Amino acid sequence: MMVIPENSCIVIFGASGDLTYRKLIPALYHLYENEQLPESFAILGASRTSYSDESYRDKLKLSLQELEKTTPETLDAFCRHIHYQSVDTADVDDYHKLKNKLDELAGQYQFEQRNTLFYLATPPSLYGVIPQCLAAHGLHDETDGWKRLVIEKPFGYDFASAQQLDIDIHQHFKEHQIYRIDHYLGKETVQNLLVFRFANGMFEPLWNRNFIDYVEITGAEFLGVEERGGYYDGSGAVRDMFQNHLLQVLAMVSMEPPSAINADSIRNEVNKVLQSLQPLTEDDLKNNLVLGQYTGSEVRGQFLPGYREEPGVAGDSRTETYVGLKMFINNWRWNNVPFYVRTGKRLPTRVTEVVIHFKQTPHPVFGQNAPENKLVIRIQPDEGILMSFGLKQPGAGFKAKEASMEFHYASLEETQMLTAYERLLLDALNGDATLFARTDAVEACWKFVQPILDYKQDPTSLYGYACGTWGPKESDDLLTNDGRTWRFPCKNLTNTDYCEL
Ligand code: BG6
Repeated sequence: MMVIPENSCIVIFGASGDLTYRKLIPALYHLYENEQLPESFAILGASRTSYSDESYRDKLKLSLQELEKTTPETLDAFCRHIHYQSVDTADVDDYHKLKNKLDELAGQYQFEQRNTLFYLATPPSLYGVIPQCLAAHGLHDETDGWKRLVIEKPFGYDFASAQQLDIDIHQHFKEHQIYRIDHYLGKETVQNLLVFRFANGMFEPLWNRNFIDYVEITGAEFLGVEERGGYYDGSGAVRDMFQNHLLQVLAMVSMEPPSAINADSIRNEVNKVLQSLQPLTEDDLKNNLVLGQYTGSEVRGQFLPGYREEPGVAGDSRTETYVGLKMFINNWRWNNVPFYVRTGKRLPTRVTEVVIHFKQTPHPVFGQNAPENKLVIRIQPDEGILMSFGLKQPGAGFKAKEASMEFHYASLEETQMLTAYERLLLDALNGDATLFARTDAVEACWKFVQPILDYKQDPTSLYGYACGTWGPKESDDLLTNDGRTWRFPCKNLTNTDYCEL
């Protein structure tokens, strides 16, 4: 059943930033179009730039028209809910303007309760400052309605800064008021990992070290760093994708069943498995980790520049745009099962998927050619699941041949999926923190990756790979050394004779 959130005001800090235009406003527009926003609501943009309500609306309207399919009446009606207040976000005194504007809107929209969602779509340097300034004006106080903070990643820069940020925010806001967005958790197919595992009796009994040989997790992107070189160069793939999105996906694949589907039960299990990641030793860093950086190359007839040639990137940058890691989980379920995880920019195609490889049968009755049993869980694109197994090859003798069964989300009758940001904004407005990262889990992730961050300083640790390839050749060795190979996925879930990238 659809729950409509309580009347509230949504304040977006970083209102003139890219995330606001590209993700937040389109998500809010779609929720509005589908009648999922509160009966009475206001959206208040806040940032340094000076706009009037009118000029800010015009800007958003143009960008919505450009990015989304809109209808004029709905667009006009939606835009009437948008307001703007310029604030020097780092200056505590300036927040009185914001407070006054919120008072004014509360009157105009006849809010009985002062429910407010503060969305921090700003540079991370403001994550500690804004909560403090809000609190100085009593804007964190929940006596007259809920006050929630939504914080974009990255939550911290490393283990120590993540802990400090947490302390800073908790000085003014309680954990139940804090919603840390990891947009991968908003993806329908990532949530489906839980349903697939825990709503079916036939997979879960096999989901452990006795039956699973190894697991691959791939988060590949074809795009380079685009316009974000300035940010990315100080971040790299480990901080940008691995520490958050991929470890969250890994947690969904490997966690124990929660006792119920609610924020506490699920997040307890996520935290538990993340705490069980086997700490990386010096040996692991040397033998089980591959960091790479893309170099210029011609891809499908087009020359793509190397990472160091990208705008905003230092000419001698040693930032990694690829990371591949073989890692383990120290618990009963997963003892000794390798998880091979990789992510990178400028790989041949955009694909995120999990591949579960089951063990071979105990005795090869049909000779050496028994096909592998594997399950490919495709998170994007061509969302779906593919199961491959052996069947008798028709004809004389008993030869086994690989066959597959597949399910594509696109074939469901009800395929209108909420985008990650729509789902997460709606959940935050409804006070459901299930799909938001809890502080202990975030810290567990940073703790796990900290040795990689330290190791990154080592100048011998970075390999080049040409744009449009599957990363440095050393990343293949991670698996070939164990007698295995990565799956090289195409755009489509199903492998056909022609692999479309
Ligand atoms: C973001 C990263 O969090 O996730 C980007 O900062 C990356 O670098 C993006 O491109 C990937 O998200 P998606 O939803 O396109 O897989």
